[in-house]
Amino acid sequence: MSAARMLTGDRPTGRLHLGHLVGSIANRVRLHQRYESFFIIADLHMLTTRNTREDIERVAHNAREMVTDVLAAGVEPDRATFYLQSALPEVGDLNTLLQNLVTVPRLERVPSLKEMARDAGREEMPYGLLGYPVLQAADILCVKGQVVPVGRDNAAHVEVTREIARRFNHLYGEVFPVPELIMSETPTLVGTDGAGKMSKSRGNAVALADDAATVRRKVLGMYTDPNRIRADVPGTVEGNPVFAYHDVFNPDRAQVAELKERYRAGRVGDVEVKEALAVALNRFLDPIRERRARFADRPGLVDELIHTGTERTRAEVRRTLVEVRRAMGLTGTYTRIRRRAERHGKATATPA
Ligand code: TRP
Repeated sequence: MSAARMLTGDRPTGRLHLGHLVGSIANRVRLHQRYESFFIIADLHMLTTRNTREDIERVAHNAREMVTDVLAAGVEPDRATFYLQSALPEVGDLNTLLQNLVTVPRLERVPSLKEMARDAGREEMPYGLLGYPVLQAADILCVKGQVVPVGRDNAAHVEVTREIARRFNHLYGEVFPVPELIMSETPTLVGTDGAGKMSKSRGNAVALADDAATVRRKVLGMYTDPNRIRADVPGTVEGNPVFAYHDVFNPDRAQVAELKERYRAGRVGDVEVKEALAVALNRFLDPIRERRARFADRPGLVDELIHTGTERTRAEVRRTLVEVRRAMGLTGTYTRIRRRAERHGKATATPA
């Protein structure tokens, strides 16, 4: 039996940051050895909040950067299929068919969508954004994904996919596996400003591609306990983003425990805690930087990967759509019309 299939991916909005890494890339790196892996570059999903000509013109560049980041994070190029969503019309075709298997109130209950609308400065929910989870279901079901590792904010979308898959199978016969959700166990990473989740558009992100000096500068500028005006004032560790990062990225647990203890007692300055974090983070990022440099040395490699991956996926989704249309009986409708038309044509044809 061949390996189960995994699908996940990202919208091509820019470089990946530590929040993406913790939320989903780390899982991806771990799992891609075990599954047959598809990684979608979800540019149609990007259009739900960013759809100017300029946004679209940047996709090719952003896709290249993003795939390079995923490879730098440790996904092996010959063990993964990267593909561009908008190059496959079958995804949109399936989306159209799946839209009838879910209700508007069900989609209105998906919490991430309201958040995305708000972040995009939309007062009212765009139709396409409400349908975001249905399009995501089309992605997953088009390649018959069985395992979907995503960050927390995407868990509800995979739940919608599961409901749609069950509904389809119930109505038209067993076509789709009901995909399993794999969620990151690490809590959502807070941004360097401590004000919310890490996000490039909020300007509180540390990119995987940041160099050591940039990382250090960002860390030294991080938000900490605001009540601590001097090093001898006891500080709060809980909810302090600097310690949240220490917990996730500093493997020297003894050092972290010691810094926390001294922080609580007012026996360490913020700068020392931050310098230690900058060192730990840079150590964490060094192997990623090395791999990135290796891929950057081979121009065209990433584009070629996306190209071959997209063609390979095209073959898959075409097969799925043929199966879907047959199961639903759509193929039969046109066959019946065409046959009658042909019979009619023969009956009335004037002899030569
Ligand atoms: N919704 C994902 C994001 O937040 C991107 C995505 C689109 C996706 N289609 C997918 C993830 C299918 C997993 C499976 O960027």
